[in-house]
Amino acid sequence: MKRLYNLILVCLLIITLSACGKQTRTDYLADKVSEQHIQTESAEVTEQAEQEQQPQGGDNTMMGAISFNFETKSVLLNSGYEMPIYGIGTYSLTGDTCVESVTAALSSGVRLIDTAYMYHNEESVGEAVRNSGVPREEIFVITKLYPSQFTDPETAIEEALEKLDIEYIDMMLLHHPGSGDVEAYLAMEKAVEDGKIRSLGLSNWYVEELEEFLPQINITPALVQNEIHPYYQENDVIPYIQSLGIVVQGWYPLGGRGYTAQLLGNEVISEIAQAHGKSSAQVILRWNLQKGVVVIPGSSNPDHIQENTELFDFELTEEEMERINALDRNEKHDWY
Ligand SMILES: NC(=O)c1ccc[n+]([C@@H]2O[C@H](COP(=O)([O-])OP(=O)(O)OC[C@H]3O[C@@H](n4cnc5c(N)ncnc54)[C@H](OP(=O)(O)O)[C@@H]3O)[C@@H](O)[C@H]2O)c1
Repeated sequence: MKRLYNLILVCLLIITLSACGKQTRTDYLADKVSEQHIQTESAEVTEQAEQEQQPQGGDNTMMGAISFNFETKSVLLNSGYEMPIYGIGTYSLTGDTCVESVTAALSSGVRLIDTAYMYHNEESVGEAVRNSGVPREEIFVITKLYPSQFTDPETAIEEALEKLDIEYIDMMLLHHPGSGDVEAYLAMEKAVEDGKIRSLGLSNWYVEELEEFLPQINITPALVQNEIHPYYQENDVIPYIQSLGIVVQGWYPLGGRGYTAQLLGNEVISEIAQAHGKSSAQVILRWNLQKGVVVIPGSSNPDHIQENTELFDFELTEEEMERINALDRNEKHDWY
């Protein structure tokens, strides 16, 4: 009897110990998972810190909260969407010229297209996109509402959707500040909620304008598009915008029509271009990218369009960047 009692006691002891063991193992596993989590988090933090320390123009260029990925040639917007860091601008391209230019760009691998109500070419851009054979989701189309449309933004948004006829608009900007701009932006926010537009932005908004505008809206713009070229560099504005987690895109990257010869013929730029075996246009575009500025050069020449995509097989040195930075003349080539 006593032996049986002892046997039961031993069994109970084994069961208790094994339960304790299981508990300990579970705890151990939980600890392990949490340890791994901490390790992953710290790896991410280290990776982020490393990325922040990377020289400009490496695989990633960190600018404030903005990171350009030079491998995928894209940037992750604060809206959660990925946008290419180079594209084609369509100002002054209309009708067949616009269709042909955008078609050539898409054939050259360009996936970012900038248009606007004011360019009178949204139909042509849409036509080129639809007929390109490139899957819609691979193309990123930006259009803009003009201040004259701010009084009835809902109708203006519907008009843009209809003219483009590409299911949805990747990004819509307010073309420049004007009466009713806050209401127009709020209408664009509603269109984001409705799935008609994916990301929002502003154009020709500078520090003061942004400080006044941002507290009045709900969705932080994903992008600000402003005039930026070696003669008008906006070196005070760019870091401010980037520090807000907003991507900067430059218009008139080559100085705009009527000024390109001056910029492309600039001695410093030509010298740097020669050293790299690249064109002046490519050097200017690369300088923008290394500053964390997205480029949308305009062109109707297929050779130029192709040339403007070949920006990733060379890198400007810090000294070359500085030499171009020193060309700033605060010389605006358009009024807004
Ligand atoms: N938000 C705004 O207020 C605003 C204002 C202006 C512009 N934008 C946008 O910014 C885009 C860019 O501006 P933009 O097109 O007016 O000016 P841009 O890109 O500075 O210059 C365009 C001029 O550069 C020439 N070009 C292009 N690539 C070239 C190359 N590789 N070599 C030599 N020449 C070259 C083009 O001629 P070819 O046709 O002969 O190549 C064209 O004459 C516009 O298209 C528009 O989408 C926005």
